[in-house]
Amino acid sequence: MEKMWAGRFAKALDKEADDFNSSIHFDCKMYKQDITGSMKHAAMLAMQGIISQDDCDEIVDGLQTILDDLNSGKLQFDPDAEDIHMFVESELTARIGDVGKRLHTARSRNDQVALDIRLYLRDETNEIIELIKNLLSAILVQAKANKSTIMPGYTHLQRAQPITFAHQILAYAMMFTRDIDRLKDALKRMNYCPLGSCALSGTTYNTDRDFVAEQLGFDGITLNSIDGVSDRDFCVELLSAYSTVMMHLSRFSEEIILWSSWEFKFIELDDSYTTGSSIMPQKKNPDMAELVRGKTGRVYGDLVTMLTALKGLPLAYNKDMQEDKECIFDAIETVKKCLKVFAPMIETMNVLADNMYSAAQKGFINATDLADYLTKKGMPFRSAYKIVGQIVAECISKGIVLDTMPIEDYRKHSELFDEDLYNEISLETCVEKRISAGGTGKASVEKQIEYISEFIDKN
Ligand code: ARG
Repeated sequence: MEKMWAGRFAKALDKEADDFNSSIHFDCKMYKQDITGSMKHAAMLAMQGIISQDDCDEIVDGLQTILDDLNSGKLQFDPDAEDIHMFVESELTARIGDVGKRLHTARSRNDQVALDIRLYLRDETNEIIELIKNLLSAILVQAKANKSTIMPGYTHLQRAQPITFAHQILAYAMMFTRDIDRLKDALKRMNYCPLGSCALSGTTYNTDRDFVAEQLGFDGITLNSIDGVSDRDFCVELLSAYSTVMMHLSRFSEEIILWSSWEFKFIELDDSYTTGSSIMPQKKNPDMAELVRGKTGRVYGDLVTMLTALKGLPLAYNKDMQEDKECIFDAIETVKKCLKVFAPMIETMNVLADNMYSAAQKGFINATDLADYLTKKGMPFRSAYKIVGQIVAECISKGIVLDTMPIEDYRKHSELFDEDLYNEISLETCVEKRISAGGTGKASVEKQIEYISEFIDKN
């Protein structure tokens, strides 16, 4: 196929170089955005008297038939086309003749690609936001069912203090609300239309860029035509936000993997989200969570690819920028796939409350509460902390726990100890008495559940 720009050249492009240069095999993903952008551009050209209304109608109708045929699969992408923009334009000219050649007045492919990727990322990111909301809903299902499920909370992966399972997983919900905020914030900054930059310096035609911007749902136009075609900050911002989503999913995955091990056995994943082993008949593996954890690295890699592609580029467009698409498409696909299995995996997992409770009984996780008991009776916290440390050491040497140490032994450490201490350090009391805002106590957990429900409705 002859290139649109062949006029200036005496020879055709080498076959290997042609394939190397072509981006149709990945930018074909943006065909809807490319065609929509072209339709609005044609409408603007007619409105401004740059092309006739009849020509515009023919162009828009022609583009619509291309869109329909691509949607239905009747029309296939030409693998020899240079990119999606060239493909659509040459297909249009093939269908409606010379009128199709008027479409590219007062615009450049550099504007088109900058427009298409913005439109594409806007659509895909909104889809990702919906998927994160589904995950929030799945977390809510488990949180509501486990408001009184006591488990050990950890620091350094050592049993630390009693918490509820609801409180633990609501921590992840908070992270995912921030992810949605971050994505929306990046979308806000990206939502300016570059079409009409005309490669880099603007045009001599009396275009109406604001009209096109409004028609395509943008908040305005890019104010500097050089920036309009050179800016890929939004790709970096979105990739960074996608990476953060993956980091959160990966941390959550790590806990899911630990909790489903025989050593913890805090949860059992549903059969539909686990796999077996080819040799060990007893195995039930948390592959989905492991894959999510594993795929996090590729999204980080996509972010670094983008940053690196941009770092040495002079203004304005350079072909290096064609490298923006494969990495961001890969990141989007990865994030979407991960969210699609992760949410139902969380919603369907079986929480083994008894195992959580017995683990909570074994790690002296009520030691802070025992120190608080003495403090509330007047002892300075540091002194109480020291005494409780000695009591814990004594319990360990005797093979008992705080709840089973006799009161006489307690009294050898301090006269302030009384029978009421046993109630004060029961796991239920420890959780109930965490009344501080944001803590694991019931009122705080209820408030978090309400916050997440409202967040889902509002976003
Ligand atoms: N395929 C190109 C890309 O993805 C489109 C823009 C090409 N512009 C140009 N002047 N070669 O970046």
